[in-house]
Amino acid sequence: MSTDRSTLTSQEREKASVFHSWSAQSTINPLMIKSAQGLYVTDESGKSYLDFSSQLVNTNVGHQHPKVVAAIKEQASVLCTIAPQHGYQSRYRAAELILDHSFDGAAKVFFTNGGTESIEHAVRMAKLHTGRSKVLATYRSYHGGTSTSINLTGDPRRWPNDNGTSGVVHFFGPFLYRSVYNSTTEEEECARALESLENTILFEGPNAFAAIVLETIPGTAGIMVPPKGFLKGVRAICDRYGIVYIADEVMCGFGRTGAWFAYQDHDVKPDLVTFAKGVNSGYVPLGGVVINEAISASFNDRVYPGGLTYSGHPLACAAAVAVIEAMESEGIVENARRVGDEVLRPGLEQLATKHQIIGEVRGLGVFFALELVTDRKTKEPLAPYGSSSPAMNEILAACRNEGLFIFNNFHRLHVVPPCTITDDEAREGLARLDRALSVADKYYVGA
Ligand SMILES: Cc1ncc(COP(=O)(O)O)c(C=O)c1O
Repeated sequence: MSTDRSTLTSQEREKASVFHSWSAQSTINPLMIKSAQGLYVTDESGKSYLDFSSQLVNTNVGHQHPKVVAAIKEQASVLCTIAPQHGYQSRYRAAELILDHSFDGAAKVFFTNGGTESIEHAVRMAKLHTGRSKVLATYRSYHGGTSTSINLTGDPRRWPNDNGTSGVVHFFGPFLYRSVYNSTTEEEECARALESLENTILFEGPNAFAAIVLETIPGTAGIMVPPKGFLKGVRAICDRYGIVYIADEVMCGFGRTGAWFAYQDHDVKPDLVTFAKGVNSGYVPLGGVVINEAISASFNDRVYPGGLTYSGHPLACAAAVAVIEAMESEGIVENARRVGDEVLRPGLEQLATKHQIIGEVRGLGVFFALELVTDRKTKEPLAPYGSSSPAMNEILAACRNEGLFIFNNFHRLHVVPPCTITDDEAREGLARLDRALSVADKYYVGA
C-alpha cells in the first residue's frame, strides 16, 4: 500500500519508518544528516558540527577519506560481493595487513560484519578449543548487542537481555577513581583486581572457564586505562588455568590509543583479538577475530561450526586495506598519540582547572573520558549509574548548540575524535566544549 508522504519532514519520515537502536521510539528526535567531510558533519539545515565522537567511535580516519572512498568505488566497479567459500584478493590482503600489525604468532583472521559478531565467534572458538563453557568478563564493559555479547556486557544494557544461563561470570576490573577495592594507588588496585579475578576463578571452578573477555581499555564503560602489570597478570592467570585470553579491541583498536592495538602498550600477547569499527573506519560494516596458531590449528581437521554470508565482504575488505594503508603512509596512528599528548590531555586538564564539575580526566591518544561530578570529594556522578539527568541533557544540548558532537555515557563525556585530527581542530573542539560546560558549572555543589 503506498502512502502519501509529501507533507512530512524528513525527520518525520525517519521516525515513522525506521526502528532505532536502544531507544523508546516515541522519545527520539534524530538529527538529520546531509553530508560529512574529515572532522566535520553537516545536518540538513546546513549547520556544521565538529565530530569529537567519531560517530560511535569508529571513523578513525575521519569522514570521506579520499583514498578509502576511491578504494570502495574501485572495488564496486570490479566485484561488489562474493560468497565466503571463494577466495578473493581484497579479503586476503586485508587479513595480511591486520596480521602484520598483530602479535607474534597471530595466524589467521576470521571476518565478521561488526563487533558483536566478532565476540560471538571468539567465544565460540574458545569454548570449542578448550571444551569448557564458562566465560569471565568485567562489570564495567560493553561487548555488543547479540546474545553472547550482551550477556558478557557488564553495563545496564545487559539487564533486560540477560538470560542467566550463559555461563558468564562478572568481576570488577581495576578502576582507581571509583575503586571497589578501597585502593589508594594504581599498584594496590592492580594487585587487588588480580586477586579478586583469581578468587572468582577458584570459587567458580578452576577448570570451568573457556575464556576471559576483556576490553583492553574499557571504552563505553569509561576509558579506564589498566594499571601497569594488570594485563600481564591476567595473562599469567589465563596460563595457570588454561583460559583463552580474548582482547576486545573493537573500540580501542586501530589507532585510537596511538598504537595499532591497545594491548601493544602493555607487553602482553592475547590468544584472540576481536576488532571492528576502526578497521575500516566503519565505511562498510566489518569486524573480525585475529586467531593465534593453537586455536587456529584446532580447526585444521575438524569443522569450525560457524560462518556468515558476508564474511570477508569485498567492499568492506577493500575499505580496510585502504584505511590500513592510509594509516601507515600518513602516520595516522602516530598522529593520534601526539595530538593526545600535546593538545587533548593538556587541554582537557586545563578545562578541569576551570570547571570543577570535571572530577577526572583520563585516557590517551584520541580516547579520553571526563568524569562529571557534583562534588570532587564525594565523586557524586552528575547522572546516576545506568541513567541520564537534566544536567547531562543540558550539557549535551549545549554541545549541540556549539556545533560539537561528543560521546556520552551516563555522567561521562568522552572526547574521541578521529585519529586524523589536527592540532587546530583539537583546539577548536576544546573551545566549544569549554563553552558548553559553562552551562553545568551551576550543578557543582562541592567546596
Ligand atoms: C568494546 C566493544 N565491543 C563490541 C562492540 C559491539 O560492536 P558492534 O556495535 O559493531 O556490534 C562495541 C560497540 O560499541 C564495543 O565498544
